[in-house]
Amino acid sequence: MCGIVGYVGARPVLSVLLDGLKKLEYRGYDSAGVVVLGEDLNLFKKQGKISSLESEISGLSLDGKAGIGHTRWATHGVPNDRNAHPHLDCSGKLAIVHNGIIENYRELKAELIEKGHVFSSDTDTEVVPHLIEEELSKTNDLLKAVLSSVNQLKGSFALAIIHKDFPDKIIAARVESPLVLGIGENENFLASDIPALLPYTKKIIVLENGEIALIEKSKISIFDSQGNQIQKHPKTVDWDARMIEKGGFEHFMLKEIHEQPNVLKETLEGHLDLPRRMVLLPEGPPDDLLRNLETLYITACGTAYHAGLYGKYLIEALTGLPTEVEIGSEFRYRERKFNPKSLGIVISQSGETADTLAALRRLKGEEIPIFSITNVASSSVARESDWVFHTKAGPEVAVASTKAYSAQLLSLVLFALKLSQARSGPFNPRTTELVQELQKLPVLAEATFNLEKNIQAYANRLRLLTDYFMLGRGLDFVTALEGALKLKEISYVHCEAYAAGELKHGPLALITSGKQVCLLATQRSLLPKIHSNFKEVKARGAEVLVLRFPEGEELEGDETLVIPSTSDYLSPLLAIIPLQLFAYYMAKEKGCDIDQPRNLAKSVTVE
Ligand code: AGP
Repeated sequence: MCGIVGYVGARPVLSVLLDGLKKLEYRGYDSAGVVVLGEDLNLFKKQGKISSLESEISGLSLDGKAGIGHTRWATHGVPNDRNAHPHLDCSGKLAIVHNGIIENYRELKAELIEKGHVFSSDTDTEVVPHLIEEELSKTNDLLKAVLSSVNQLKGSFALAIIHKDFPDKIIAARVESPLVLGIGENENFLASDIPALLPYTKKIIVLENGEIALIEKSKISIFDSQGNQIQKHPKTVDWDARMIEKGGFEHFMLKEIHEQPNVLKETLEGHLDLPRRMVLLPEGPPDDLLRNLETLYITACGTAYHAGLYGKYLIEALTGLPTEVEIGSEFRYRERKFNPKSLGIVISQSGETADTLAALRRLKGEEIPIFSITNVASSSVARESDWVFHTKAGPEVAVASTKAYSAQLLSLVLFALKLSQARSGPFNPRTTELVQELQKLPVLAEATFNLEKNIQAYANRLRLLTDYFMLGRGLDFVTALEGALKLKEISYVHCEAYAAGELKHGPLALITSGKQVCLLATQRSLLPKIHSNFKEVKARGAEVLVLRFPEGEELEGDETLVIPSTSDYLSPLLAIIPLQLFAYYMAKEKGCDIDQPRNLAKSVTVE
């Protein structure tokens, strides 16, 4: 949940570090700091966003050919200057930055204090420089000292280490928390995530768990946890630097909402066989495995979990196959038996969410094969799965997930259709109709933006809102859950999403005069029931936004948003766009930090 960067080369080190940190600020922004290694170890760190650090040190011209930097999402130790990274050893010659949690830091800290080390922060991280200092006093070989130190650490860490007596080099180590190396021409980079590398190189090496890298400007040497040198071949990423710019939009989130029609088009590319009205899913499990499945276990977190819920509803509707879905942080601890004739489906935009990874490993521990859906091909989830569907959403920078969600939904449509084809043959009328509808989705998604002005005006009218309800039945309930999460996480409006049929079992007590409610009404077979829910809340004075297809014209709310008509099964791919826009414009009205909402980070790589 923090971002780390490192650079060795001839460019102005300070600006490379600060630019890299800005590209990673979505990973955490409680404090930031850098170290540039020149004649001296020049360390600057400050509470707050990178801009606060930058205002203190911009214009400084520091010599130096190597440096490391950090932008923090606080886990241990409140966000302040003292707890900001980088952290030093007692000599002040060694500096480190860290992403992750050192779970055994208390014991290590006590031992190190016993040996005379003096600590200056409340962080778990600070045990690392002192541990390396201790090991270095025995060997005077920095690589060996780092190796023996990291082998004593428990928990998750991506580390970058720099030392005054070992100039022009950085040592990096990784267990769980992501770390990517960028290969340049007579210069080399490291970062928590690819966007920080793209302005300089597309050639990357992903450091695996337990590996250590010695990074110099002319070469990168990689070692396993025993210190044996290993060969790794660089990969070339298919993203470019432009993709991580705002492209004229005020916020990344708005840009990424608007990218969705194209993301749907890109994700469909090569997956529809229209003449035979079938889907193609070469990335997925083989037909014979799909034919013999007795159940599916879907696990994910947050928005990805809502995509998983959609997958459940759709898979059961199209194939009848019982499908379970559970959030990773609960699934990983379940005490239960698993059906051996099953498949795990793991969904994660970043592919690095600790709870989702833990749930994936729980499934693997039960010898259940894993099909994952992720937006980062080089991620841990991708590497630990048997089959991977790589969504083509491009880098998603805003903390609030939008285009990745749409891509996940579409991936699950393709999987559900593939599953149906494998189990009951390709020409089932329901699935062939769906294939026909699928190809229209990108155009229909684009058409939903005709509602943008109405939504902006609606958000302006509700700008003083403090709480809100989103209700729906069936797939509309899934959309309500995701719409509610968007509103909560970027506009800080407390929003309850409820299965509309559940209202009378308690939550209706909250519906009083003037209460704002969004009623999703796209599931044609459930419209009569939604009408009763509409009357239920209106009778108690609620003001209702109805979101529906054109056909349900007799359902008119105080505000009505009509989305283009499509199959009930595909409505979540369209209905979510107005709700994303509503959350965005509410956050704008309230002056919230839309791309970097308080307390959150893009990838939750700690538990
Ligand atoms: C979604 O808007 C949130 N940022 C969050 O719920 C996110 O979906 C969740 O942390 C899962 O992330 P992942 O898809 O990268 O695993």
